[in-house]
Amino acid sequence: MSLPTQMHAVEFIPQAGTTKASKEAPAQISVGSRPLPKVGAGEVLVKVHAAGINNADLLQRSGGYSVPEGASDVPGLEVAGTIAAVGQDVNKWQVDDRVGALLAGGGYAEYVAVDARQVVPVPDQLDYIEAAGIIETAATVWFNVFMTARFQPGDWVLIHGGSGGIGTMAIQMVKAMGGHPIATAGSNSKVEYTQFLGATGINYRTEDFVDRVQEITEGHGVDIILDIIAGQYSEDNMRALAHGGRWVVIGSQGGIKGPINFLRLMAKQALLTGNLLRPRTAAEKGEILSGLVEHIWPFFSDGTIDPLIAQTFPLEETAAAYERFAEADRVGKIVLTI
Ligand SMILES: NC(=O)c1ccc[n+]([C@@H]2O[C@H](COP(=O)([O-])OP(=O)(O)OC[C@H]3O[C@@H](n4cnc5c(N)ncnc54)[C@H](OP(=O)(O)O)[C@@H]3O)[C@@H](O)[C@H]2O)c1
Repeated sequence: MSLPTQMHAVEFIPQAGTTKASKEAPAQISVGSRPLPKVGAGEVLVKVHAAGINNADLLQRSGGYSVPEGASDVPGLEVAGTIAAVGQDVNKWQVDDRVGALLAGGGYAEYVAVDARQVVPVPDQLDYIEAAGIIETAATVWFNVFMTARFQPGDWVLIHGGSGGIGTMAIQMVKAMGGHPIATAGSNSKVEYTQFLGATGINYRTEDFVDRVQEITEGHGVDIILDIIAGQYSEDNMRALAHGGRWVVIGSQGGIKGPINFLRLMAKQALLTGNLLRPRTAAEKGEILSGLVEHIWPFFSDGTIDPLIAQTFPLEETAAAYERFAEADRVGKIVLTI
C-alpha cells in the first residue's frame, strides 16, 4: 500500500500578538497539513487510529511544558494504531501489526514515526481507543511504583489524585499485583469511585489523610507514596510514610517547594525521589514497556484492569476534548479518534 506524502496533525499556534503560549494566553488549537514523518533506522511508522490526552499536553498548550529536544512539536504522548512502515534494522514489527506507542510527542496526527523500542502490542480484547488511553498512565505507574519504588505484594500504597488518569490506573495495578491501594480524592463521589476500583478512599477536603492512613494501616504507615501534589503535602507525606517507605514525586500540582523534615527522613530510613517519563531515552522507555507488557498486559486481556475511557472526540474537536478534560467531574481518560 502506498503512503500519502502529507498528513493532518494538530498544531498549537500562539495567539495573535504573542510569540509564546502562556497560562493567560494559551495557544490556539488547529488541524493543519504537514509532511509525513520520515522513518529512520530502528523506527516504525504508526498509522494512528486513536491518541490519548494527558495533562502534559494541556500544560504544553499553555506554555508550561517544553517539548524535549528532538521531539515533535505536535502534541500527543500515546497512540494506538497499525504499523504502516518499518525502518531498517527493525525485526520485531511488521506492517499491519496492531500496536500502541509511548511517544515524546507527535501523537495527535494521522501518522507518527517512533523508535521501535517504544512500541507495544495492543493487549488482547482491547480496541484502539482503549489501548491509546492506557499506555502513558500504565507506563508511568509501572516505572514509578514498581521499578523505582520497588513495590512488593502486601505493600500499602498511597495514591494522591486517585480519580485521575494516573490515579485510577495506579489503584488497579497495585490491587492486581497484590498491594493495598489508599487513594485521596476531592469529593465523596470520587472517593466512592476509587473504592469501586479497589482502594480505600480518603476525601482530602474533609478528612486528614495522615490520620486516616495511620488508622487504615493500624499505625504502620504507607510503604509507597505516588505523589502528584508535592509542595503542599510534603510534611504530611513524610508523616504518612512507613519505616523504609519510598516516596516518588511525579507531579507538583500543590507547588514545587515544601518543607522536608530531614530528621524524620533519616529516622524512617525512607527514600525520596522524583521522575519524568517523557524525556527518558528510547532504551529506558523500552525497558519500562517490556516490564509493563510482561506483568500488566495480561490483566487488561482478562478484564482485571479496566482502561476507563470517559469520552472520545474526533481529532478536529481537540479543543472541545481539552475543555472536557479540564472539567472537575471527569473520571477516566479522554481519547481522540483519527
Ligand atoms: N512525572 C511523570 O512522568 C508524569 C507522567 C504522567 C503524569 N504526570 C503528572 O501526574 C499528574 C496527574 O496526571 P493525570 O493525567 O492523572 O491528571 P488528572 O487526570 O487531571 O488527575 C489529577 C487528579 O488530581 C486530583 N487532585 C487535585 N488536587 C488534589 C489534592 N490536593 N489532593 C489529591 N488529589 C488532588 C484531581 O481530582 P480531585 O481533586 O477532584 O479529586 C484529579 O483527579 C499531573 O500533574 C501530571 O503532569 C507525571
